[in-house]
Amino acid sequence: MSDEPARAATRDYVPAAPQLWLYDFLVAVLARESRWRPALLQQIDPKAEDSIADIGCGTGTLLALIGRTARPAVLIEIDPDQAILERARRKVAEVGARVEFQVGYAGDAAALLDGRRINKIVSSLVFHQVPMPEKRAGLAAMCAALVPGGEVHVADYGLQRTALMRRLFRIVGAGDGYENTEPNARGVLPELMKEVGLRRVEETAVIPTPTGSISLYRAERAA
Ligand SMILES: C[S@@+](CC[C@H](N)C(=O)[O-])C[C@H]1O[C@@H](n2cnc3c(N)ncnc32)[C@H](O)[C@@H]1O
Repeated sequence: MSDEPARAATRDYVPAAPQLWLYDFLVAVLARESRWRPALLQQIDPKAEDSIADIGCGTGTLLALIGRTARPAVLIEIDPDQAILERARRKVAEVGARVEFQVGYAGDAAALLDGRRINKIVSSLVFHQVPMPEKRAGLAAMCAALVPGGEVHVADYGLQRTALMRRLFRIVGAGDGYENTEPNARGVLPELMKEVGLRRVEETAVIPTPTGSISLYRAERAA
């Protein structure tokens, strides 16, 4: 293991929730998960031949859904929080999906996934809570981890277009830190995706929630 992934042991990241056992409930209620998670799944369109990595997988909800929908050849979950990876392990075991787990940050994705021929890389509700340098490094590493023509699918708080959404999103800022969250509210994610070399960057949906709007994004690594 390189020095970079070893940083994950230092816990210099914002955890999913102060109490991990509360996280799934909070996402369901405060982030209106039932609206955007199925839309993200549909966008990912998992197939048996896919190799998919989930960056900042949290409790593993997304890969559990993917594992239920299809049986992709490779499923890899990456998160810096070892405790939450244990929860993810239990959740995906319940659906019988074969999943590998790696401790690491988004910025470690290229190193951790080297040689794995990932054709779809996914991430949900992660980038709003990481500092700007890690947003950029994470997206660059996700791009680098993909095979040519591979796809990026992200769901996260994005550009907050109305006064109401901006106000609601302050709830997230209070928990995850305004310095990390405000760039998302100004719409930085698609800009960064283009900056790190991703192509065909699109915001495919904007879903209002009680804590601000969540955007779905799709992008590709050049073929
Ligand atoms: C709000 S939770 C989202 C979890 C999951 N993706 C979901 O959709 O429910 C954010 C997750 O990102 C992880 N995380 C925090 N900083 C990270 C980073 N720099 N790189 C990757 N994951 C990170 C946290 O440990 C946490 O599990």
